[in-house]
Amino acid sequence: MNAYAEAMKHSGNALHHPDTRAVHAGRHELTQLGVHALPIDLSTTYPVAELDGAPEQLEAWATGGQPDGCAIYARLHNPTVGRFEQALAELEHAEAAVAFASGMAAFTALLLSLPGDRRHIVAVRPLYGGTDHVLSSGLLGCTVTWAEPDGVAEALQPDTGLVVVETPQNPTVGLVDIAAVAAQCGTVPLLVDSTFATPVVQTPIRHGATYVLHSATKFLGGHGDAMGGIIACDEEHARGLRAVRVATGGLLHPLGAYHLHRGLATLPVRIERMQSSAMILARRLLEHELVERVYHPSLPECDPQGLVGTQMYGPGSMLAFDIVGGYDAARLLLGATQLLTHAVSLGSTDTLIQHPASLTHRVVEATSRDACGVHDRLVRISVGLEHPDDLWADLEQALSAASLHSVSATHVHTHG
Ligand SMILES: Cc1ncc(COP(=O)(O)O)c(C=O)c1O
Repeated sequence: MNAYAEAMKHSGNALHHPDTRAVHAGRHELTQLGVHALPIDLSTTYPVAELDGAPEQLEAWATGGQPDGCAIYARLHNPTVGRFEQALAELEHAEAAVAFASGMAAFTALLLSLPGDRRHIVAVRPLYGGTDHVLSSGLLGCTVTWAEPDGVAEALQPDTGLVVVETPQNPTVGLVDIAAVAAQCGTVPLLVDSTFATPVVQTPIRHGATYVLHSATKFLGGHGDAMGGIIACDEEHARGLRAVRVATGGLLHPLGAYHLHRGLATLPVRIERMQSSAMILARRLLEHELVERVYHPSLPECDPQGLVGTQMYGPGSMLAFDIVGGYDAARLLLGATQLLTHAVSLGSTDTLIQHPASLTHRVVEATSRDACGVHDRLVRISVGLEHPDDLWADLEQALSAASLHSVSATHVHTHG
């Protein structure tokens, strides 16, 4: 085992609380390097000391290995990115992690890493719209069978190479029992997109997942200023991902890796605060006359399997609700918020609100959207770090604006 893999294995103290590990993960060699902040290596090429041994070194990188010594070229390896990968692997209780330019680049690399005769995917809806689109469109040469969480075993075929679930699901915040799906997969690898949860809320490998994917663009970075994607898994699967990354070049830039790694240290405190605000907002929304239904795992009706407290350490900070009046009311609401930003993405310091059927899930065919709950009434909120009373005041005034208009529209319609 090389020095990097050795460091991965022994780094991080599993006895420490996850809050502590989030602060120190991936930073174990810094004292030895004589620095305190994460070093950023921007080299695109590296001096080769001598030609003897270099071809073997290149081959080792190109086949997804982590040899000691010269990195040769930045598409093969970058130490700043490597430290972020080590950190995320520690937090996910994985042997390894492989980082990419975005969540979609990570998912693409995973699909490309599947053997040529294993390009059938079983997937559970809803998924993030972009992921759904890549699978449905066959863009990367895959075919897909959509299944319910308890119908995964039945949907498997001899050429199934991957099972894909998200939990909590984007955008309905529905929960999937990871262990129950894993039990149906047999030898087929299971990918859990854990972007909504983060390793603070759940660690899917402990429940039987093979791969854990994060759009690091979201909570991991946490400040809306760096794009990235990362997959945690065992070393064998990581080799396949690295080999695809070397070949296709969907690299995470070291400056992005620096920002994403720095974000991990505050992840537990951000999640704690955002999650408690989300619980407050969920309960207040439930009481509002313009709200038909609220989706947040803290509400018993949203967690019938009791996964919060077993699979999840907490309910997380993403929530959604159905607005009375559908698209028109949603349009008015989104036009009236002043503190909440009308924008896609999530997991940032500030609160973001959006209409999934129009934006994040627009690329999914309308009938498929409707069938998995991504209908025109649905509004999604990523709760940020603002004080929950201020967030509620803004939501309440925006709901009132939407309500006044909805009522007057109904009035005109009824009497006009
Ligand atoms: C759950 C989930 N997975 C994957 C992605 C894709 O990530 P990225 O936008 O970083 O490519 C997103 C993006 O919104 C997402 O919400």
